[in-house]
Amino acid sequence: MRDEPRRPQALLSSVLRLQSLTFSLPHKQPPHPHLYAVMTTSTKGTSPPTTSLGRRDELFSSPLSDPGLFRFDASVASVFPDMINRSVPGYATVVGMTGTLAAKHARPGSKIYDLGCSWGASLLSVAREATCKQCQLIGVDNSEAMLSQASAHLAQFPEASRIELLHADILETSLEDASVVIMNYTLQFIAVEERASLLRRIRAAMRPGDVLILSEKLALPDQQLNEYLIDLHHDFKRQQGYSDLQIAQKRQALEDVLVPETRQVHVARLQEVGFDRCDIWFQCLNFGSLIAIA
Ligand SMILES: C[S@@+](CC[C@H](N)C(=O)[O-])C[C@H]1O[C@@H](n2cnc3c(N)ncnc32)[C@H](O)[C@@H]1O
Repeated sequence: MRDEPRRPQALLSSVLRLQSLTFSLPHKQPPHPHLYAVMTTSTKGTSPPTTSLGRRDELFSSPLSDPGLFRFDASVASVFPDMINRSVPGYATVVGMTGTLAAKHARPGSKIYDLGCSWGASLLSVAREATCKQCQLIGVDNSEAMLSQASAHLAQFPEASRIELLHADILETSLEDASVVIMNYTLQFIAVEERASLLRRIRAAMRPGDVLILSEKLALPDQQLNEYLIDLHHDFKRQQGYSDLQIAQKRQALEDVLVPETRQVHVARLQEVGFDRCDIWFQCLNFGSLIAIA
């Protein structure tokens, strides 16, 4: 790590600020059925939480004869900020801490990539860090609909004006001089057999001390515990206002599209492709985030 580590108290207060923002979201009673306050996370306590209007995720709420395969199309993009905030436990903490972690590794003049950047939340968190100001910030996504969501979202924040958005497949995007690579909840959508070569290319674009932040839905090696955590995740989604029908139909749509792996598989593969030190730094239910240091 390049900088002095922040004092534990400072880290704790960052996380607590994020959690208090999370709890301020109106989970169960949106003010309007189609408009919903969407949080933009920040590790900075000096400015008030920023909100923009986005649609509440009502996808999968009517019975479908076949939910089809989950795709990041226009209908998903239009509700995505609400969907991910209410579906991924710990999301606000991971996005906020992504900026903090990136700041520890950012090299002046280098590039910071967010692969599968969606609505740009993680890069916004990075753009707010002073030590990342001399880096080039690049978000890559292969969904045009998600990138228009990102443009509209980021246009609200002057500090995001230097973020470049690239419409491309991350399996084909060339990467170079990357001090930080972020993949928050994206690798799980890449075919399992493609994952090692993508990670190898990421590692090859880095120098020693650079970092990959990898957040994923995780499977547990113990089948019973795995089912237990899946049930807990469904309880979490019910708490967030999703119905049993929405949960079941989305689960069916994601089957074979989102393929989770265990923490052990992730760590072993990261080591195999050349990362020096890697482990999990955050987990909430069956969603975790790893750091891998080159
Ligand atoms: C769950 S979302 C990621 C969420 C986002 N990183 C965040 O933290 O808010 C997965 C994203 O990866 C993108 N994606 C999936 N496969 C991709 C590929 N092969 N190339 C580029 N983007 C991809 C999808 O379009 C989608 O926007």
